[in-house]
Amino acid sequence: MDQNNAILLCVTKLREEEQRIVDHLADLGIQVQVNLDSMDLPLGLADAQPLGLALIRCLSQKNALNRSQLLELAGLDTLNSNKAITICTNKIHQAIVFEKHGVPQPQFRIAFTPRKLFDALQEFGELCVIKPATSSWGRGIARITGKECLEGWIAARESVDPAHQSFPVLVQEYVEKGDYDIRVVIVGRTPIAAFRRVSAENWKTNTHLGAEVEPLAINEEIAAISEQLVEVLGEGIYGADLFFDYKQLRYVVCEVNQNPEFAKSWKIHGVDVAWHIAHYVKDVLTQKNKVKQKNKTKLLVKS
Ligand SMILES: Nc1ncnc2c1ncn2[C@@H]1O[C@H](COP(=O)(O)OP(=O)(O)O)[C@@H](O)[C@H]1O
Ligand SMILES: [Mg+2]
Repeated sequence: MDQNNAILLCVTKLREEEQRIVDHLADLGIQVQVNLDSMDLPLGLADAQPLGLALIRCLSQKNALNRSQLLELAGLDTLNSNKAITICTNKIHQAIVFEKHGVPQPQFRIAFTPRKLFDALQEFGELCVIKPATSSWGRGIARITGKECLEGWIAARESVDPAHQSFPVLVQEYVEKGDYDIRVVIVGRTPIAAFRRVSAENWKTNTHLGAEVEPLAINEEIAAISEQLVEVLGEGIYGADLFFDYKQLRYVVCEVNQNPEFAKSWKIHGVDVAWHIAHYVKDVLTQKNKVKQKNKTKLLVKS
């Protein structure tokens, strides 16, 4: 293997979508060393590495975070960067960072104690959404429709978490978003595809919970928000969840995922996400090689 054209692919298992990325990479002459969650990481000297980059697609957010951190410490760049994964795998981190950079998002509070939840509920007009800091696929996300509902939520939690170790949690205003949210797939710096996730039955519009995919054109506002997200998180591969807030008449960012799944959706919107990822990986490798070459030349000139 040669650093210029070999990558490490960290996965829980090689699913259809990762296999498609591997196939496109092979077409581009890039070799892939598959690294399952159960395997050791190659953490040897960076210069002796036969790998130019690690693509992180672990299913567990915790594994993604751990693996990218260890690899970056060892000198192997990861896609996404450890910084991006750190922000994206924690909804509270995201809220803070987006606030700092003026990314439009639902109003939120970070509740460090159950008591604070009552204040937030009142501030948001007796309707809000509570989110654990780390979750995905809609798990643990609860819509609170009043004081009694909140008391029920707290009581249910107390039995399994009497010391409230799962605090702080994120509380957001409930956004009047119609029966859909919008998923934007970003690769590199570019929003390559967007679609509505529509659900008549469930206010949580995750496709895992049964929402239907409807292709959507990327308008100027969606493109501008995507650009802003790339500025904040750095280039990478992202699935941004947006709402069109029908009360405020503007787009807001619900959350950004660091490992967007696309196996089902791409067959409906028709954009080959795996192809874009493979080409982006190639671009990053080429760029890294150019920098390395430049540094080598500089060293030669100096000596
Ligand atoms: N503040 C909110 N207002 C209205 N709907 C929300 C809000 N937050 C989340 N949702 C709904 O719940 C879904 C899951 O929330 P999200 O924050 O994306 O968590 P997950 O990581 O589990 O996907 C969203 O896709 C959306 O349909
Ligand atoms: Mg989501």
